[in-house]
Amino acid sequence: MSRTPFIAGNWKMHGRAAEARALARSLRERIGGVSGVEVGVAPPFTAIEVVRAEIAGSAIRLGAQNLHEEPKGAFTGEISAPMLVEAGCHFVIIGHSERRQFFGETDAGVAKKLRAASAAGLVPIVCVGETLAEREAGRTDAVIEAQIRGGLADLAADGAPGLVIAYEPVWAIGTGRTATPEQAEDVHAKLRGWLGDLFGSQRASTTRIQYGGSVKAENANSLLSQPNIDGALVGGASLDPAAFEAIVLAAK
Ligand code: PGA
Repeated sequence: MSRTPFIAGNWKMHGRAAEARALARSLRERIGGVSGVEVGVAPPFTAIEVVRAEIAGSAIRLGAQNLHEEPKGAFTGEISAPMLVEAGCHFVIIGHSERRQFFGETDAGVAKKLRAASAAGLVPIVCVGETLAEREAGRTDAVIEAQIRGGLADLAADGAPGLVIAYEPVWAIGTGRTATPEQAEDVHAKLRGWLGDLFGSQRASTTRIQYGGSVKAENANSLLSQPNIDGALVGGASLDPAAFEAIVLAAK
């Protein structure tokens, strides 16, 4: 089963307008015409418009890092799925470990956001991952299975077309410490098995599962060559156009 790899850059809280414009422009020049791999960037909300303008007409897709589950209402400081669609977003990251860790997001909340993203036609990237303590306690599989079953609890077998899962071990995010290709592949293969339990083998075999956590130009090849690793969610290295380009080219 061939799955087009998907490399997404998560810019996190980086990029004021001028920086975001320069980064987007450089990416468009380097990889704006890339084929055989899907590429996206998720800037901060305030830079979405400048990035949209820079990458318009290129192969680079626009995404957001978070959304609120309601389409509108009295939710000060929040941004809804229809707003993201209107701003030009194609995908949205849901349940990133930093959202879980610093903003109290839960699997139940992920399920609500997934429903909202899907209703608006956004492609969701649902993030899962264990902490170092959980891995060292031998609980990795149980933690990831609970996250995937909880986050996808409300999803119909044909819901959220294009759904992407990102496996991001928390201990590998921003630490320079990457999961080995074998560690990552082990979890990815199990994730595909749980997707099969939930939605059947057809959906499991077509769903893309990205790896995230200190992906760099130097380790991209060995990770992306694993059979169940279908792309990457890239934080730090996505802010460096040459590094991000190298990761994208490694996925082809
Ligand atoms: P990192 O972040 O590549 O900087 O480790 C990945 C992520 O948090 O998505």
